[in-house]
Amino acid sequence: GKLVVLTCGGGNGAHCLAGLASVRPDIESRVLTMYADEAERWAANLDSGFIITVHNDDGSIKSIKTKPSLVTKDPKKAVPGVDYIFIVVPAFAHAMYFEAIAPYIDDNTVIVGLPGQAGFEFECVNLLGDKAKRCTMVTFESLPWACRLVEFGKNVEILGFKDTLGASLLKGKECNLTKPIIETTQYILGEKPKVRHVQNYIAITLMAKSIVHPPIMYGKWSQWDGKPLSEKPLFYQGLDERQAELLSGVSDECVATAKAIEKKVPGLDMSDVIHVFDWYLNYYSDQITDKSNLMMAMRTNKAYDGLVHPMKEIEPGKYVPDFTYRYMAEDVPEGIVPMKGIAELAGVSTPYLDEVITWCQGKLNKEFLVGNKLTGKDLKDTRAPQKYGYNKLEDLFTGSFEVTPR
Ligand code: NAI
Repeated sequence: GKLVVLTCGGGNGAHCLAGLASVRPDIESRVLTMYADEAERWAANLDSGFIITVHNDDGSIKSIKTKPSLVTKDPKKAVPGVDYIFIVVPAFAHAMYFEAIAPYIDDNTVIVGLPGQAGFEFECVNLLGDKAKRCTMVTFESLPWACRLVEFGKNVEILGFKDTLGASLLKGKECNLTKPIIETTQYILGEKPKVRHVQNYIAITLMAKSIVHPPIMYGKWSQWDGKPLSEKPLFYQGLDERQAELLSGVSDECVATAKAIEKKVPGLDMSDVIHVFDWYLNYYSDQITDKSNLMMAMRTNKAYDGLVHPMKEIEPGKYVPDFTYRYMAEDVPEGIVPMKGIAELAGVSTPYLDEVITWCQGKLNKEFLVGNKLTGKDLKDTRAPQKYGYNKLEDLFTGSFEVTPR
């Protein structure tokens, strides 16, 4: 029979995935979107399908006409019989979808975080309970496309494809799948990006791109005098030495954590964890004009042209920073806090992470860190391993899951 693929979500990325999957004649593409009235609005237009407008690198444009078989807000209709579930929403909405699919999910289902973001697997195992042992979790390090909705349910634009994209597997020991997972995922996504199998889920967690925004926010705004600005400052092109040092320091701590884990857990390969500067040189080599250091590489990365700090306009022409934007609201609890949690289990001290988290949690009115320990009262609002009862490093690598399945 057909491969049944379910997309969870109704935003930019969800439209792309549901649309690309349904172009394949041997895939049945369904959509589950539970937010507001998205399912009704999308389903109302479903008969006429929708358009993916692809902007190619050479400037040409291709229109793909596509039509998922089902769009619903009812997990009872969407989930039974599904082979692959892609969760394509910001991390704060993951839990809602894990809870929705849990009662209906079959054995041997693959659950994909597109992207996963730090702590995806911890949260999934926690909410799926025993069923997780009979499933496999896949985490992508980012979204495959730069994309945006032109008109909800009618037209989504792909502005660019990544060339390659890392993905890790965490396989339940009772999950019996015959089709190879990375290859099948590649088939669903299409030719681009090339999916690269990353060694394990902890390596991909330490490489999550949520590392980038909080240190820059802290470096930029911790000494701000509180006076509104007359324009929105550039986020990447305005990077200064202090912000680059903070980001580099946090990245060094993730690399040190990976090295410590490799020493303590025999046979585990953490070589996928590399410094963020090296990551930029690998991923954006054609787009960066000055590769002399991290600061210059980020300032001269064409992919970042014109991107500004998240700002609120408090009166016409007067802007203040928006600390509720996902750069903080998501990238701290579902980003650098889980990374800190892994470092803590590995016994690695993290002065940079601690300094950044301490400032960010103040802006978010939360307490995750007390001194340099993750014992704050709001740890429950994060996806740190400690929240789920992982208290020793070995807990991350033992139990009901294969950490390095092939
Ligand atoms: P999006 O901003 O389009 O997601 C919005 C969707 O999330 C909504 O349509 C709804 O389905 C769901 N949602 C929003 N608020 C909700 C709530 N309160 N409760 C439940 N569901 C809610 O997201 P997009 O652009 O598809 O991105 C998905 C992820 O990929 C994000 O984490 C984003 O940071 C990341 N990403 C996006 C890129 C892009 O070009 N769009 C590029 C790289 C990464």
